[in-house]
Amino acid sequence: MNYYEKELAALKRSGRYRQRRLFDENLIDLASNDYLGLSHKKELIDEAYKRVSSYQSHASKASMLVNGYHPIHASFEKALCEANGFEDGIVLGSGFSANVAMIETLLRKGDELFMDEKYHASGVMATKLNDAKTTYFKHNDANELETQLKASTAKRKVIAVEGIYSMDADVLNIDIIHLADKYDALLILDEAHSSGVIGNKLMGILDYYNLPVKDNYIKMGTLGKAYGSFGAYILASSHIIEYLINRAKPIIYATAPSLFDTALGHVSLEYILKNSESLKKEIKENQHIIKEVLGIEIKGLIVPMKIGNNKKVMQIQEKVMNENYLIGAIRQPTVDTAIIRLIARLGVDKKDLHTVCNLIQGFLR
Ligand SMILES: Cc1ncc(COP(=O)(O)O)c(C=O)c1O
Repeated sequence: MNYYEKELAALKRSGRYRQRRLFDENLIDLASNDYLGLSHKKELIDEAYKRVSSYQSHASKASMLVNGYHPIHASFEKALCEANGFEDGIVLGSGFSANVAMIETLLRKGDELFMDEKYHASGVMATKLNDAKTTYFKHNDANELETQLKASTAKRKVIAVEGIYSMDADVLNIDIIHLADKYDALLILDEAHSSGVIGNKLMGILDYYNLPVKDNYIKMGTLGKAYGSFGAYILASSHIIEYLINRAKPIIYATAPSLFDTALGHVSLEYILKNSESLKKEIKENQHIIKEVLGIEIKGLIVPMKIGNNKKVMQIQEKVMNENYLIGAIRQPTVDTAIIRLIARLGVDKKDLHTVCNLIQGFLR
């Protein structure tokens, strides 16, 4: 008996059927979010292993509020606060649960959330879990947001945006940050795709715009992308972290984040800070290749190319794969129109980056 036969058949008909796939490890990876190529650096896992092994146990074993909180978590939180200029911070198991934690917990009855229409699915899902009003504004559109903020009579206003948008690759409009200050709104910055990629110290969007941290800013970053590990963190004013610890279900009712992944995130943070100049230089070089071959100007390392046909993006991905390169084929409903997404990540030979861009160019023609 197949209880979901009709639904699965409909997904197949519309080209939206998804499968996990084990790709050949030898393919040159230009599809993942490993922006800095840190997931290939063995010296980072060796160091993380050394740090975790120096303690009697290597697992967090319980929720943070029972006895799962560990010096490895605490020292990483401290380092993140210092690097990003925030008062306090907390690590979480994933970016998905960090968004659920923030959006379910920080919005109470009588509050209003202003969310970019392209905000990540985890945040959108979490809006259904609180009793506040949610208003979406046009992607990166500060004018529309200001009209909505002016009209709002909410007790507390919260704006939720991303530093770099994962599917469009655009950078957050700076005017939105200024609006949060002007209207005394809390500002949630999901930096999944910007921390480690932009900014003078590669710390993300505030670093990129050279803006000081203010009491109303809340930064969420993930470890599964540029940091080459797994997990996430939230940085904010002390009272906001204190409130999350007391109310956020993904913090209270989940086993504390993995010690190894947290230690690896910490080692990566140190690596990024220490090597920021050379990493920035490499990022620039890759951005230059993308501009030169594909004519696309990028601020981060995501290169989206609109194709508009679910089946066609799969075909292009397959053809490129035959030449030994792996690129992303992103379909509806993740995006409005299907795209090919290339990640111009570090650690890939420049010649290969040129070749794959030329290949894509050829298939697009
Ligand atoms: C913008 C954004 N926020 C949050 C997440 C969730 O983070 P995680 O993969 O750590 O759960 C992702 C992607 O995975 C993302 O792209």
